[in-house]
Amino acid sequence: MKRFYIETFGCQMNAHDSEKVIGTLVGRGYEQVATPEAAELIMYNTCSIRDKAEQKVFARLQDFKRHHAGKTFAVLGCVAQQEGEKIFEKAPHVSMVVGSASYNKLPELLVQIERGDKRVTGLSLDTDDTFETPLTRRDNPHKAYITIIEGCDKSCAYCVVPFTRGPERSRTLESVLNEARELIRMGYSEIQLLGQNVNSFRDPAIPGSALGHDFAYLLRRIGELPGLRRVRFTTSHPRDFVKDIVDAIDENPVLCNHIHLPVQSGSTTMLERMQRLYSREEYLRCIEWMHRAKREIAITTDLIVGFPGETEAEFEDTMTLLDEARYESMFIFKYSRRPNTPALRYEDHITEEEKTRRFLILQEKQRAMQIRQNAELLGRVEEVLVEGWNSATSQWIGKTSQNRTLNFVHPAGREANLLGQYAMARVTRTGPSSMGGEAALEPAV
Ligand code: 5AD
Ligand code: SF4
Repeated sequence: MKRFYIETFGCQMNAHDSEKVIGTLVGRGYEQVATPEAAELIMYNTCSIRDKAEQKVFARLQDFKRHHAGKTFAVLGCVAQQEGEKIFEKAPHVSMVVGSASYNKLPELLVQIERGDKRVTGLSLDTDDTFETPLTRRDNPHKAYITIIEGCDKSCAYCVVPFTRGPERSRTLESVLNEARELIRMGYSEIQLLGQNVNSFRDPAIPGSALGHDFAYLLRRIGELPGLRRVRFTTSHPRDFVKDIVDAIDENPVLCNHIHLPVQSGSTTMLERMQRLYSREEYLRCIEWMHRAKREIAITTDLIVGFPGETEAEFEDTMTLLDEARYESMFIFKYSRRPNTPALRYEDHITEEEKTRRFLILQEKQRAMQIRQNAELLGRVEEVLVEGWNSATSQWIGKTSQNRTLNFVHPAGREANLLGQYAMARVTRTGPSSMGGEAALEPAV
């Protein structure tokens, strides 16, 4: 059994975990294949953030069973951690269940599987280690992910992550910098730093962590590495977000002017019930730092509608927050009950219809704001990293530092060979989410 297929759901942390799992397997002599048909070992990296994501897992496992009887199946990720050995009951064809906090045990577990063991688990959460692999395969040729912190020490009332990814563990600054240097040598010019809460990064190699070896310091150190053009990071938590992060971005254009700062709700009473550890006013203070930055910072967010007991007045507070924050874009989610979470104790649940109504109202308001805000970008010249070619429209697909998509035409068309390069493009058309433009020769201002 040497050929494996892996399928991944969920957030960027999961996508990057899969890259590391692939690196571990390839390092042990396995070969990755593109279809489950060609594989002997089928791995499925799962997400349990909302109920729908979790339901998909068991449907997909049934699928696999129907079409690939006799193969070895492994369930990884957040559903693995959450459901543990129960997965063997619900899906007896599965042989391996490994939670995201136990991937450092993967080599041992693979040995057991090779020996023919039929039920193998890695489910411990009490690891101090982070999951580092010397050899990591990366699927995106332009952008590389680096984990800087794993797990989460918060306890947001709706969230499974503290249960599925365990307590917070930072990597050392030195190992993060070394990985970044290696990626630059491999030809990457854009790096995205990952963690459930990157803002609480503290270098564990420095005793007395109040000494400034924090996230803003890490940003400054990464930003000065020669050869790097763009550094992004996600996700931030408003409670640990400090002005020094905005100052670091202001000082160095390599640090992209885009910040994803999930707010979840614009109402202080709702934020209290969600156990978010900040008020509307405290959140808006972070927004003000960004609005006052020298470089315009694109702000994006996550919002939950229909959390238990959400009143009309609380929902209205979220609506008015949109006017103040002026988001570049947002993800809106309908609240979904999750196992083990503190919010299960609330009883006053909002109906599905009402959640949908609030979802649509928010979505419409944000869409109207995006149309207005994006129209202001007309005529601007932006630097983009070219990530693809759209043959249907004969346009290059570019990403700006603010993470906006800017599709543009070039006089040489496909012959311009821009893939993976930085180019200048002028915005000639804007819509609610993406922009259209043309190649520009003059440098960006
Ligand atoms: N229900 C709905 N949305 C959720 N999120 C996290 N947990 C839940 C839940 N139980 C959303 C939050 C978070 C994003 C990744 O997913 O908005 O920021
Ligand atoms: Fe899904 Fe959260 Fe796990 Fe990411 S950390 S895969 S979003 S449950």
